[in-house]
Amino acid sequence: MATFSDSGALSYLSMLLLSILVAYCATAAADFYRDAEITWGDGRAKILDGGRMLTLSLDQQSGSGFQSKNDYLFGRFDLQLKLVPGNSAGTVTTFFLSSQGAGHDEIDFEFLGNTSGEPYTVHTNVYAQGKGDKEQRFHLWFDPTAAFHTYSIVWNPQRIIFLVDNSPIRVFNNHKSIGIPFPTSQPMRVQCSLWNADDWATQGGRVKTDWTKAPFVAYYRNFKIDGCPVGTSGGSCGFQSQTQELDAKGRNRMRWVQEKHMIYNYCADVRRFPQGTSAECKRPRF
Ligand SMILES: *[C@@H]1O[C@H](CO)[C@@H](O)[C@H](O)[C@H]1NC(C)=O
Repeated sequence: MATFSDSGALSYLSMLLLSILVAYCATAAADFYRDAEITWGDGRAKILDGGRMLTLSLDQQSGSGFQSKNDYLFGRFDLQLKLVPGNSAGTVTTFFLSSQGAGHDEIDFEFLGNTSGEPYTVHTNVYAQGKGDKEQRFHLWFDPTAAFHTYSIVWNPQRIIFLVDNSPIRVFNNHKSIGIPFPTSQPMRVQCSLWNADDWATQGGRVKTDWTKAPFVAYYRNFKIDGCPVGTSGGSCGFQSQTQELDAKGRNRMRWVQEKHMIYNYCADVRRFPQGTSAECKRPRF
């Protein structure tokens, strides 16, 4: 009996400590005042709720955007987004990493709006040394405008993993050994924006933005970065995902997402690449 209640008390204590730790990390993690700066939009981007929420808005005059204050060389970047509801045709909401200057590297999540009731498209791409053409697109298996969902980019020296609510949807592996550029040396910054691209975004540009519905608003919260800010003293920055790869569960989940929800894959687009798709397309996808 004594043993039972001891271990009960012990596990109660560790639960308590764990919840304090989780609460502390959650508050320490999400503060747009501390970690982000509004970059454009003339008042259309707003930090709310003591730094816990950020809204971007778009009207016929302008969209808006923000970025992380720091640059990072590798890391895990999580954001929760609630996308523009209703008729969002022509709007593009973004969450991406980008380096500065020529020959830039970039890792993209772009959310392409649609007419009411039609699915959003999640567009992903990777640029290395200025070269992209690595698009994969998905429809989501939930309504991304009804609630917040978590979108994550894991970027380590071996691979880039895109996740939606912790389900991996795409892995882009480092195939530098076979001559495919991969971002490993240019620090990147988180960039987010809401802008208009009705010349191409929705159903190939056929559906235009209905400006009578403006302003369009997207919501961001729980901005969380576990990474290596450039300029951090010492060369010993560690982050949890630095060797992250998919386990069996992750591989199964990604197979499911890609089978059921992928709508475009550059690796399968032989019409666009008549000389043959890129070499990494012949490698295993995990
Ligand atoms: C919009 O809806 C159409 C029809 O369901 C779909 O084909 C398309 O992928 C959706 N997304 C965009 C961005 O056009």
